[in-house]
Amino acid sequence: MTMKVIESLSQMRSWSRMMHHEGHTIGLVPTMGYLHEGHLSLIQTARKHSDRTVVSIFVNPTQFAPGEDLEAYPRDFQRDRRICEEQGADVVFYPSNEIMYPEDHKTYVVTEDLAGRLCGASRPIHFKGVTTIVTKLFNIVEPDVAVFGQKDAQQALIIKRMVRDLNFDVEILISPTVREEDGLAMSSRNKYMTHGQRRQAPVLYQSLQMAKDEFVKGDLSPELIKNNIIDNIKTASEAKIDYVQIVNTEDFTETDLEKGDILIALAVFFGKARLIDNVIIKR
Ligand code: PAF
Repeated sequence: MTMKVIESLSQMRSWSRMMHHEGHTIGLVPTMGYLHEGHLSLIQTARKHSDRTVVSIFVNPTQFAPGEDLEAYPRDFQRDRRICEEQGADVVFYPSNEIMYPEDHKTYVVTEDLAGRLCGASRPIHFKGVTTIVTKLFNIVEPDVAVFGQKDAQQALIIKRMVRDLNFDVEILISPTVREEDGLAMSSRNKYMTHGQRRQAPVLYQSLQMAKDEFVKGDLSPELIKNNIIDNIKTASEAKIDYVQIVNTEDFTETDLEKGDILIALAVFFGKARLIDNVIIKR
């Protein structure tokens, strides 16, 4: 089957309905394009868990606040299209802004409380934009499975909660973070860094790994471990910390850290690049 590029809502819906009618399951990989190896692993996860794979490419304006990098966000549709074809996707869904957000668009989806913590504290409208666009994509593509990356741990957990709370009939799969050789998590935003900033950026994953080891050993309090992460990151002269948090994965607060899964998450600026990364401790 040759890969299709679909730009219209009605064609996307008809294709999905036809696939379901023929008895196929559909896996969706929502992306904002400028694909890297992390996305390739999401596509392969979708292919493994469904018969047909749709990759959506849409730089979603509602998840960027004024002054953030919406205009600068890297775009290269022809390259993305080629990559999707090589990876065996069946459809690239590539809608325009006008189609996704007509001028009189007034409806949003919000996951209360969770959307205001961690990254939501400094990006207050971000997750409202994410949950809204993901809802729209689910309604248009009607996937059986949707795949998100562990690197965006808060996003993945919020989407899981939204799916549960709003009774979406879609299984959410979380695919492990893909890293450069030096440990830096792959991200479309890594290209914003200067050479010097890029050289320092692996300090983030090093600090997270150190924190995970300390947490598992159990000798230090979460507060001390957090301070150690901060001190370690500060050894990189270009790093400007947005936040470092050790929270539970249920409501992203610092309560109940003795039981349940733990998320150690951070966001740090290196120049224009706001990098996020995390580790989860499963218990
Ligand atoms: O993770 C992303 O690239 C975006 O937040 C998503 C899920 C495609 C929604 O725009």
